[in-house]
Amino acid sequence: MIDRNTAERIKDAANIVEVVSDYVHLVRRGSNFMGLCPFHNERTPSFSVSPRRNMCYCFSCHKGGSPVNFIMEKEGINYHDALLHLAKKYGIPVEERQLTDEERRQQSRREGMLVANEWAMNEMQRNLTETDEGRDVGLQYFSQRGLTDEAIKAFRLGYALDRPGALQEAARKAGIDLETLKSVGLVGTSQQGHPYDRFRGRVIFPVLNPAGKVVAFGGRDLKGGPAKYVNSPESDIYKKSRELYGIYQAKGEIVRQDKCFLVEGYMDVIGMWQSGMRNVIASSGTALTDGQIALIHRFTDNITLLYDGDAAGIKASLRGIDMLLSHKMKVKVLLLPDGHDPDSFARVNTPEEFREYVEKHETDIIRFKAEVLMKDAASDPLRRSEAVKSVVQSLACIPDPITANIYIQECAALMGVDETLISRETARYRSIRLEQLRTERRQEQDRRRIGTDIDRTQPARQPSAGRQEAPAAQTVQSEETKAPSVNPLTPLERQVIRYCVRYGMMDFCEGNDAEGNPCWLNLAEYVDAELRADYMDFSTPLFRKILDEVMTLKERFYAEFDQMVENQAPVVEQRRREKIAELAARDLDMDTLAREEQKMEDALSEEAHREQLLFAADFTGRVLSSHEDDDVRRFAIECMNDIQPLSRRFEQMASSVPEYERLIDLIPRAMTEWRQGIIRGRIEELMVSLRQAQSDGDTERLETIMKEISGLHRKQAKIAKGIGERVISPRGLG
Ligand code: CTP
Ligand code: MN
Repeated sequence: MIDRNTAERIKDAANIVEVVSDYVHLVRRGSNFMGLCPFHNERTPSFSVSPRRNMCYCFSCHKGGSPVNFIMEKEGINYHDALLHLAKKYGIPVEERQLTDEERRQQSRREGMLVANEWAMNEMQRNLTETDEGRDVGLQYFSQRGLTDEAIKAFRLGYALDRPGALQEAARKAGIDLETLKSVGLVGTSQQGHPYDRFRGRVIFPVLNPAGKVVAFGGRDLKGGPAKYVNSPESDIYKKSRELYGIYQAKGEIVRQDKCFLVEGYMDVIGMWQSGMRNVIASSGTALTDGQIALIHRFTDNITLLYDGDAAGIKASLRGIDMLLSHKMKVKVLLLPDGHDPDSFARVNTPEEFREYVEKHETDIIRFKAEVLMKDAASDPLRRSEAVKSVVQSLACIPDPITANIYIQECAALMGVDETLISRETARYRSIRLEQLRTERRQEQDRRRIGTDIDRTQPARQPSAGRQEAPAAQTVQSEETKAPSVNPLTPLERQVIRYCVRYGMMDFCEGNDAEGNPCWLNLAEYVDAELRADYMDFSTPLFRKILDEVMTLKERFYAEFDQMVENQAPVVEQRRREKIAELAARDLDMDTLAREEQKMEDALSEEAHREQLLFAADFTGRVLSSHEDDDVRRFAIECMNDIQPLSRRFEQMASSVPEYERLIDLIPRAMTEWRQGIIRGRIEELMVSLRQAQSDGDTERLETIMKEISGLHRKQAKIAKGIGERVISPRGLG
């Protein structure tokens, strides 16, 4: 384990330009560097490296981050190993924390287990090809199922001899002790207490982790016995929920194609691999777990789920999608013709046919869900509303508000439901979910505080330092509009900073911290992250200063929020007692009483929740309203007292829904308006130059200006459509 100080030293030393340069040819562009993105295929550079931020970012595939992040992604290794990688590069001696005796014992035990597994894998591979039994039974089975020698080698398939204790005997000769075999589950203990070979008489599918270490085995029965598959039990080296079958063989191709296919079984992975699709992994028959999604996420954001097109397959494809969505995965689903699994489908189709089928039938998961559920509920109003509810729940899991908004529009149209209704319901589910996640996160933090493993604890997000030298691209000020009072961007910026002042500490959406680890962003952090991603900044220095101030309040907010929740409990209890007394006095029958009590409980928790929300909503404004700096204070007070004019779309429901419940719509909208403003300003500027060039008769210049203008018009259209891509580049608007 790397101790914290060393970890900090490594991170300090790691220079993004140097780190990226090991993989990408970089060319200087202003204060940044550009190059061809190493994470996807491209011919024009969209990979930008910012020495000032010490971060990199691809404007096309959106990958990037800190040096550690970059190495993790590029090498497909974990955080710890990425730090070691960088330590080596910068010659920093890593003082791995002194392990305690117990830890050392554990570590050497784990190593022993891996050695035993590696040995067993080789042994069983040998059985398959070098013994008569292996050839007659195991190899015979594989070839009957159409597996090639190449696939058998690539997946290290093997065979366990069908003789009692055969593996134990071979292990003894190889100097591997029985206890170790038991600890990895190669040997089990019978009810009578006798050891037995767990995989005896089965063909063997080794499960490799991304680093190529054998962590488990799956053994398939060949005799029609009761258990089709037997798998290694969980152990110190095998946590089922964190491994994916095929990841070692697939990871390179997953990165190259920036996409993976998820299937159910061992044979499906291998069948597709033989068919030339090598970015395939299996969850081994169970629903995906968080850990598995995190593993996939190291290699790609794009996942396509493959299922049989029967009813069970459709149902299975809808399971677990919320979790994928909340991990920011872009999820598609592909149903195979009824009765086919990927393995059988790959066998009766040529690779070209398979590929063609994929391209034709891959469907975006949310669209898929909306369609399937609506078809199901066609004329049944009750099921229809269930369907809408279920889709809304999925929508609420999408962390990025812009993406969510696009889906909201689409689903509303698809399901024939009012858009504002869906939007509002989504916001409601979202806040419920945020609340749950916040509780979970807090519990997690408590657990961590107790545990000693500080390796992955994330430092608090640093308030931006050295902000003054932000690229000047965003401050579009033509000659005529130099005076700040007439800067047309000021009201657009004010709108955004106003939300930060009023609601800055409200949980807003999921994002990444400085290390690229997922974390919750509050509204202020979200705005800040958006600005960074777009290389924008406030042109009014006061606004920048205020946002920085807001972001420093996080710790204090959590402390006070927790306190407030704690104080709430006795008050709620008191109210409950009063209400119960009231009800008792009304002499109601049992049924009515029960109903009234339920109503009361609902009202109480709703009220408590509301108070918490209001506390979070008002916190920033409250603190800043008594800030020591005159300008900050004045501005905060102004924000707290004004009433924002409402856009038409919200007028109808404005009376019933307070502003802080509509932020998920309002914030992206305000950001969009700002971006449009920047582009508009630039166009106006260009129009002036255009007229100048016209009167000069400079046709060449005229042409370049016109080209730039039409490029900007295209961007305007894209932004207006809500396409969630970055439209402002590190070089400015060009
Ligand atoms: N599985 C398991 N234990 C079982 C059944 C299934 O672990 N008793 C897991 C295996 O990883 C298997 C996957 O679930 O690969 C899918 O199950 P299934 O579709 O039944 O098996 P296939 O992989 O299709 O195997 P085959 O084609 O050989 O029947
Ligand atoms: Mn199968």
